[in-house]
Amino acid sequence: MTDEKRHQIIITGGVPLNGECAISTSKNAVLPILAATLLTDQPVTIHNLPDISDVKNMLFMLRAFGADVQAERDFVTIAAKRIHTTSPAQNITGRLRASFLFMGPLLAREGSAIMPLPGGCRIGSRPIDLHLAGFKSLGARCITTSGQVHIWGKLRGSHIGLPFPSVGATENIMMAAVLADGITTITGAASEPEIADLAGFLNAMGARIAIDGDRITIFGVNKLCGADYTPIPDRIEAGTLMLAAAVSGGEVKLRNANAAHLSSVSQKLCEAGAEIFPFEDGLCVRGRRLQPMTIISSPFPGFPTDMQAPFMAACCAASGTSTISETVFENRFLHVSELCRMGADINVRGNFATVHGTGHLHGASVCATDLRAGAALCVAALLAHGDTLIRDIHHIDRGYDHFEEKLRHLGAKIRRV
Ligand code: UD1
Repeated sequence: MTDEKRHQIIITGGVPLNGECAISTSKNAVLPILAATLLTDQPVTIHNLPDISDVKNMLFMLRAFGADVQAERDFVTIAAKRIHTTSPAQNITGRLRASFLFMGPLLAREGSAIMPLPGGCRIGSRPIDLHLAGFKSLGARCITTSGQVHIWGKLRGSHIGLPFPSVGATENIMMAAVLADGITTITGAASEPEIADLAGFLNAMGARIAIDGDRITIFGVNKLCGADYTPIPDRIEAGTLMLAAAVSGGEVKLRNANAAHLSSVSQKLCEAGAEIFPFEDGLCVRGRRLQPMTIISSPFPGFPTDMQAPFMAACCAASGTSTISETVFENRFLHVSELCRMGADINVRGNFATVHGTGHLHGASVCATDLRAGAALCVAALLAHGDTLIRDIHHIDRGYDHFEEKLRHLGAKIRRV
């Protein structure tokens, strides 16, 4: 069997999801935390890493930087006693967009980093100008030549006002500033839960970071030490499974789902007709036929851009017209053409989509164009009549831990071809 064939799944729709499953650790929390392990020469233990290819690639990169990485069943111990290179090859960093998160830690610990510039990706041009402006404000110098960025210098605390609350820029600047001389303040910072989790991890390593809304204050320290840390549950995985449960008309209990991280998603689902209530250490979702929705993605605590595509799939099967505005990324409607293959009726103008719910979708052969587009196709397939073949499933494997197994456990008819 070729790899390409293994990277397809078939879902037979129309089966209500029922039962219980556990939410895995957050991909978007774990990636910066893994990058931050380079900030100390002492061993750091991270618990419950999700089994996803983005994490495997991040561990691969840590080894390439010279870290000793010991992965056990439920935890990984990383010891970056020495850093072998601050100039990793493109074939190492190119495995993962999030590799630019190593810039802040390398600059802080080694005083320099040479990294290939991350290119645009399918959902937009995704520049890193805000990251670089932050490093420069801390005193770093920066030269960009032939697709590479070289940053170096001794860092001093400073004030950085972000014109947009970029998650990655906030994280990179925090990681650079922890070892700088003096105090750094970031205003207009991102306030996604993953930011507080990274601060929690850095503080466990001996950093001094205080967060007050969109203002982050970092008191520079001389050295960071080892730590033992368990990152937060994945709110996007939880939101995707909540939606899948709701559209299927079943009742699903999600252990570890953090209600506070999911308030905008829960609110939208309740407005559309689902019932959501607390359950032990998680949430229970009871579905029914959903009503049309008005969705505007925006930074936390707004509706997450990462949930926009899966919600569009649900809107296709609602009876009536929904509208979706994507305000975070410039080109995040790649799933539209694939949903249309399944019978959806969607008009797109720039970053605004009008979804004319047809009341039903039908199975088709479709392609996952990116991680969340893949999740959207799974949601669409669960509520469609007949079989849906989804190709390029490696996008889903990047960020959803055992997604098929979890859906199958809840009763979905799903199989990897
Ligand atoms: C992170 C998440 C991603 C999520 C996104 C928004 C990770 C690994 N990924 O991505 O899942 O969809 O936050 O919640 O955590 N921008 C600039 N200049 C910059 C940086 C960003 O113009 O220097 C723009 C981007 O092009 C984009 C917007 O800001 O349009 C948001 O990007 P950002 O918040 O930085 O997202 P990421 O950190 O890349």
